[in-house]
Amino acid sequence: MEGERIVAKDKKEYLFIPGPTPVPPSVLTAMTKPVIGHRSGEFSRLYRSVVEKMQRVYQTKNDLFVLSNSGTGALEMALANTINPGEKVVSLVTGHFAQRFNRIATVLGADVETLEFPWEGPVDLNVVEKKLEEEDYQAVLVTHNETSTGVVNDLAGLGRLTAQTDALLLVDAVSSLGGVDIKTDEYHLDMVMTSSQKALMLPPGLSAISVSSKAWERVEKCQERTVYFSLNDYRRLMTKGHTPWTPAVGLLYGLEAALDMILTEGLEQVFGRHRRLARAVRAGMRALGLKVVAAEECASPTVTAVWAPAGVDPDELRRFLREELGIYMAGGKGSLAGRIFRFGHMGYVGEFDIITGIAALEMGLARLGRGVRLGAGVAAAQEVLLTRLTEGGIKK
Ligand SMILES: Cc1ncc(COP(=O)(O)O)c(C=O)c1O
Repeated sequence: MEGERIVAKDKKEYLFIPGPTPVPPSVLTAMTKPVIGHRSGEFSRLYRSVVEKMQRVYQTKNDLFVLSNSGTGALEMALANTINPGEKVVSLVTGHFAQRFNRIATVLGADVETLEFPWEGPVDLNVVEKKLEEEDYQAVLVTHNETSTGVVNDLAGLGRLTAQTDALLLVDAVSSLGGVDIKTDEYHLDMVMTSSQKALMLPPGLSAISVSSKAWERVEKCQERTVYFSLNDYRRLMTKGHTPWTPAVGLLYGLEAALDMILTEGLEQVFGRHRRLARAVRAGMRALGLKVVAAEECASPTVTAVWAPAGVDPDELRRFLREELGIYMAGGKGSLAGRIFRFGHMGYVGEFDIITGIAALEMGLARLGRGVRLGAGVAAAQEVLLTRLTEGGIKK
């Protein structure tokens, strides 16, 4: 019995879910530092350091706050500080997580106009443009990287539309920031929210929010509706490098280490790696005769949703991967439940993680009686991954 428990405890497992994602050793080590008081000089140094590094990853000079709660809290903070009850917002819905953003706005009493788009594709900018011409809104809500479908929306295009109006552009970048190029200032993104357990390579527990000057003007006009998520309190305490409430100090040490890793690798390299790995996953899926949910031009660099082939229950496939191979992939949400599986590839992931994930899928499909040629998906992915070596000028 004892032996069995040890085997189970030490069994190697691979997280290919789209969050939480694997945490690098240097980040794990940083989180074991002794706890410090959150009103100390060392805390101010740490907090200012993570905020400044996070601004570089966000590509912004806007104010930014790191919060000790998951991403949903950051979405709630954005809305609770900028929208009064009864004010009009337009919510762009292309999947499950956009529905959640929509729900927060509704619960907070906004007058929500929902624009639904097919889940397999991105937001249609022409429809948004027309809507913004027809009526005045206080905000446009968008999910940048729809984790439920693996579809990415065009933030630069949306920013161009909203910048010409009074509406704020509020962006859920929970599963993209740190893995996908988001030029917060250049794209005119008023509030961008993200979470720690995705491309930022940390355990769950932190999130972040950036606030443009246009957004601050709205905050100043908004009635106070939240204490825990008060942006004014965060701004006031930031002058000392503090947070209003007791922060998750250990996670902040981890965040500093993770941001150092990202900035040392270089933003361009990090974004390029995510794009390349995602391309390799999609090539692997195609070679296995599987269809990716997102079209190539809007496919996410951080997560790939794949239609289950006829006769294969994706949840049974995932169960086999999990129980027999220690490989964790995610299932479908909402109307996609039981129809797709999702392969996450963000954060602390490299080429051989992708190869492992594809090889496991091949074994799973073969096991479930789907005639796949073992190695076909892996070979197609390897072809894509090899381009780094040839394009990168590595000598033969
Ligand atoms: C796009 C998106 N938005 C929001 C969330 C919710 O974030 P959290 O679970 O950190 O509250 C998630 C989590 O998967 C997500 O992928």
